[in-house]
Amino acid sequence: MSVLVSELQQQLRERSVRKLVVIADATVSALYPHYWDALSPEFSTMLIEVPAGEASKSIAQAERLWRQLLDAQCDRQVFILNFGGGMICDLGGFVAATYKRGVRFVNCPTTLLAMIDAAVGGKNGINMQHVKNCIGAFSQPEFEMPCDLSFLLTLPEEELLNGFGEMIKYAIMDAPSFFSELEVIGHLTPKDIQPGWIDKCISIKHEFVKRDPYDRHDRHVLNLGHTCGHALESLFAEEGRPVAHGEAVALGLFYESRLMAQIGNCPKEVAERVERLVRRHYCVPTFTEDEVRRLVDFMQQDKKNERGRINFVKLCGIGQVSPDCSVEPDLCNGIFR
Ligand SMILES: NC(=O)c1ccc[n+]([C@@H]2O[C@H](COP(=O)([O-])OP(=O)(O)OC[C@H]3O[C@@H](n4cnc5c(N)ncnc54)[C@H](O)[C@@H]3O)[C@@H](O)[C@H]2O)c1
Ligand SMILES: [Zn+2]
Repeated sequence: MSVLVSELQQQLRERSVRKLVVIADATVSALYPHYWDALSPEFSTMLIEVPAGEASKSIAQAERLWRQLLDAQCDRQVFILNFGGGMICDLGGFVAATYKRGVRFVNCPTTLLAMIDAAVGGKNGINMQHVKNCIGAFSQPEFEMPCDLSFLLTLPEEELLNGFGEMIKYAIMDAPSFFSELEVIGHLTPKDIQPGWIDKCISIKHEFVKRDPYDRHDRHVLNLGHTCGHALESLFAEEGRPVAHGEAVALGLFYESRLMAQIGNCPKEVAERVERLVRRHYCVPTFTEDEVRRLVDFMQQDKKNERGRINFVKLCGIGQVSPDCSVEPDLCNGIFR
């Protein structure tokens, strides 16, 4: 029996759980079909499969899951296990937070992004009319499962890079040694990912979630790279060539550190190190003048802006980040050229 299965078994026993519902996407359940079978003799276990992909973070899938829980006569004692990437953590967490006004759940993340980000922090949700995460709740899992890095061995390379973008973000926020360790990676493979890095990312996220559980102020530093990153996601989506969130964040970290160096917040060498690391793993695009204008327009639409200035996370060096650094839009054009 794997460490994860025995860990879950122990935790479920301690909580006197009788019925376990595993929610997984079709890809993960095909790759790991019998993963939780060992639990079945002790707990009545039911698997609910959802189509893989972001489109399943929908009210239609949430309704289907609510219905299946009802049909299986699940009461408030049911325990939900979200087995998959961030999509499943968000959808399953939302269903758990709302079914019978909330039932217990836990996330077992299988992507790098879910391990270091989506499975942690208690935010869940679904998308609505192309607006991401617009319906959702704050609801903490019962406990956190240890991360099993062997899941990363089956992850497509682009999904590994997707999570790695967020990992670079945490490394910029942490003590300089973490960032230096990432700088020596050549071509990224699952075997490069160190368990200690995952632990660091999770503990950084925990620290900010604890300080600001409802995402009102301090937690905004977790949005480092995201002001530019979201603008890039919007631009590429509009052009019909969508970019993965984590890749957009990695590029966003490059542009934002460049901006911070230009306005004198952080040393130029720091921006150059971020640029080198990002360029090693991601393709940095070139933009037309029209695209630069649209990128700045997208950044101006961010809800955290005030009085026409664009709000960024302030970066003063590796390990030196703080919320709220507002910048005149005109100063942002240069970073994309
Ligand atoms: N709640 C939060 O705090 C939070 C934070 C960050 C991201 N998110 C959300 O997370 C989602 C993105 O997460 P994601 O990148 O994990 O996407 P995902 O869950 O869609 O997974 C990406 C792809 O990888 C496949 N997959 C998952 N595990 C695999 C494995 N071990 N081997 C092979 N394939 C596997 C999935 O089937 C899917 O096709 C978005 O919806 C985002 O909004 C939430
Ligand atoms: Zn992100």
